Amino acid sequence: MIRERRAESPEAAPQDLLQSMIAAVDSEGDGAGLSEREMRDQLVTLFLAGHETTSHALTWTFYLLSQNPSAERALHEELDRVLGRGREARLPTFEDLPQLPYTEMVLKESMRIYPPVYLLARRAAEDVEIGGYVIPKGSELVLWVYLTHHDARWFPEPEAFRPERFTPEAEASLPKNAYVPFGAGPRACIGKTFAMIEARLLLATIAQSFRLEHAEGHRVAMNPRVTLNPKHGMKMVARAR
Ligand code: HEM
Repeated sequence: MIRERRAESPEAAPQDLLQSMIAAVDSEGDGAGLSEREMRDQLVTLFLAGHETTSHALTWTFYLLSQNPSAERALHEELDRVLGRGREARLPTFEDLPQLPYTEMVLKESMRIYPPVYLLARRAAEDVEIGGYVIPKGSELVLWVYLTHHDARWFPEPEAFRPERFTPEAEASLPKNAYVPFGAGPRACIGKTFAMIEARLLLATIAQSFRLEHAEGHRVAMNPRVTLNPKHGMKMVARAR
């Protein structure tokens, strides 16, 4: 695909991610572009980092909504009020997002309970002391996003699904880094803004037309692999609203 695209004239080619990579040059360095191999690696990273994470976030969100009818009702109420109901309804767009704060709160609370990236790994670049522990250079460290998100000091009754934890005021009162679904610091998620736009639009689009009910008898368990996925998949029954 990279080769085919390179053969096309830049004016005729679609203005997408691949085209940006083909056009990119290292203006601060040697002025060269990306090699085929570099482009492929970057694209694979973006696919892997950007696909499973967002899809698991949505899977867990619909499961949590199915278990929390009052939050589900509040979400539906917001969607119906902003986007209309039944025949009057229109699909949500980017411009609607500021009017859908509860939709965003639902997603944030879902990624607190089930953070798709549930741990972060680091290697100490130098000797360092953290919280009284001496960490020698070269040590491998694991930061447990999952445990931080389930710490009752910041999130009382941590297993309870409460989107209200993420009103702007409540969120602002959280200690720094108590909530890190997208990591933190210089290596934080590069796709965070895109992911939040995509996930809110998907949640709003699906939930405005359907309720997803947890299929009776289907077992739900966490499977902590590269991302936190549902071990047995997630069987849901879609019901038109
Ligand atoms: C709900 C969705 C997502 C979640 C929960 C998520 C989470 C994360 C986290 C926690 C990190 C930091 C890893 C670390 O510090 O070791 C990260 C990095 C990254 N994410 Fe995401 N991500 C999501 C969506 C996306 C999307 C949509 C893209 C791309 C379109 C993306 C691309 C990346 C890339 C390239 C990195 C590596 C950044 C670097 O090392 O400088 N992610 N993501």
